[in-house]
Amino acid sequence: MTDSDLGRALPLPTPSSELQTRLAERRSAPAQALGGPGPSRAEIERILLLGARTPDHGKLFPWRFVVMGPESRAKLAESLRPLAERQPDAGKAGKVLSKLTAAPVTVLVVSAQVESQKVPVWEQQLSAGAVCMNLEHAANALGYSTSWITDWYSYDPQALELLGVEPDEQVAGFVHIGTLAEAPLERPRPDLTQKVVWRD
Ligand SMILES: Cc1cc2nc3c(=O)[nH]c(=O)nc-3n(C[C@H](O)[C@H](O)[C@H](O)COP(=O)(O)O)c2cc1C
Repeated sequence: MTDSDLGRALPLPTPSSELQTRLAERRSAPAQALGGPGPSRAEIERILLLGARTPDHGKLFPWRFVVMGPESRAKLAESLRPLAERQPDAGKAGKVLSKLTAAPVTVLVVSAQVESQKVPVWEQQLSAGAVCMNLEHAANALGYSTSWITDWYSYDPQALELLGVEPDEQVAGFVHIGTLAEAPLERPRPDLTQKVVWRD
């Protein structure tokens, strides 16, 4: 966006059965099943641009991205391995590292709160979560499958240090992007009669 875009009238929403179908059939990928092809550099830039068009109270943009190719994630997984040994379920903690390294591209979304008198931290964190979802939609729109996960290393203090996540930041998620060899299967969806209250 350039300064001349500011204040530009944007189109109002129009019905799109294609988008409705996409949303009705969207499904996360198992991270470990994501393979190539992955998005090109230009496609990743497009995904980030689309993903960053996310609501946030106060225009604080309280998040940041770390785009990780296979090499940096392979090194990271090796550095995390000794920390996995110290997790309560060391076997599982080591095993899930394969989810970190499978996809061709991963965007680490860091929730990075900004000092604000007006906007509570919770709302800033919600915006970081919304960015993760929007990145998934953007990558899906370019034809890639995605997986938004966290796992133990998103919470372990030493792992966070390896990730370069500051003490006042949180991992909103790892958004893994790639291609699935097989169609994903539908999973249980909420019964909306248990979740919705209608009021006049
Ligand atoms: C914030 C967040 C954290 C998640 N962390 C994990 C995780 O650590 N491990 C995992 O296997 N899946 C994780 N998931 C993914 C979900 O378990 C699951 O793949 C996803 O919700 C499937 O739903 P969908 O097909 O509607 O996208 C996480 C999802 C979210 C939103």
